[in-house]
Amino acid sequence: MRLEDRVVIITGGGFGIGRAYSLAVAREGGKVLIADINDAGAAQTEEDIRAAGGEALVLHTDVSDEKSTEAMAQAAIQRWGRIDVLINNAALFTALPLHSLEQIDVEEWDRVMAVNLRGPFLCTKAVVPQMQAQAYGKIINISSASILSGNSMRLHYVTSKAGLIGFTRSLARALGEHNICVNTVMPGSVASEGALAVYPEQFWQQIAATRCFKRVQEPENLVGAIIFLASADSDFMTGQAINVDGGSYMY
Ligand SMILES: NC(=O)c1ccc[n+]([C@@H]2O[C@H](COP(=O)([O-])OP(=O)(O)OC[C@H]3O[C@@H](n4cnc5c(N)ncnc54)[C@H](O)[C@@H]3O)[C@@H](O)[C@H]2O)c1
Repeated sequence: MRLEDRVVIITGGGFGIGRAYSLAVAREGGKVLIADINDAGAAQTEEDIRAAGGEALVLHTDVSDEKSTEAMAQAAIQRWGRIDVLINNAALFTALPLHSLEQIDVEEWDRVMAVNLRGPFLCTKAVVPQMQAQAYGKIINISSASILSGNSMRLHYVTSKAGLIGFTRSLARALGEHNICVNTVMPGSVASEGALAVYPEQFWQQIAATRCFKRVQEPENLVGAIIFLASADSDFMTGQAINVDGGSYMY
């Protein structure tokens, strides 16, 4: 129970890898606010947490919308009186078509930035006053190991994920005096529900071949790093990026 009584907001926590984070945080005793636009996934995740004896709350949240992110923070405070951890996991990823430079129009570019970069910024703005009042907090940004390789068909996505590294480092400097840790996790290609629907079997085998561990990465493989960064075990660590990709890249 490494997260006993910690209040943890997980954006995109109702589906895919975010769902695995929600279930794992609850297993460790955390109280989970599932902030997602996927209402069915969020409701199912909440039900599964409660059935296992954990505590969770769902709030329909669009991370690109300021009013929505403010309501998210208020919901956690009203229910539990504090916010210990924010996991900025929500992103436009598997919902995005694979588009080349020529195919990406301004609207698509801006939408990716609005969700993947403005989203973490707005969620952070919403939770920081409470974390400052507590003189304690943890912000975990979810980037991607694709920033190390590049991806010609996900220009906007990879750019947004690289932006989170600068965001993490600057935010760590800004919030250190308030005892708020800010770190990043960089997952490799993970066989999440959505990603499995996008990429064929051959892709997963090719990626596995680039790893030290020659196997497919599952959402569960990320849980250890997330629990560590959400727990007191990482209280003197900030501004860092942890690459969890089975050793494809050595960052
Ligand atoms: N799967 C991978 O291979 C992989 C690799 C590296 C990084 N990541 C990152 O991990 C995270 C989760 O990946 P995934 O495979 O589960 O992605 P996914 O696309 O399957 O799920 C994204 C989640 O974000 C939510 N979401 C999307 N827009 C939202 C918005 N405006 N407001 C609130 N919620 C919103 C979705 O409903 C969903 O729950 C993402 O940040 C992704 O970029 C994934």
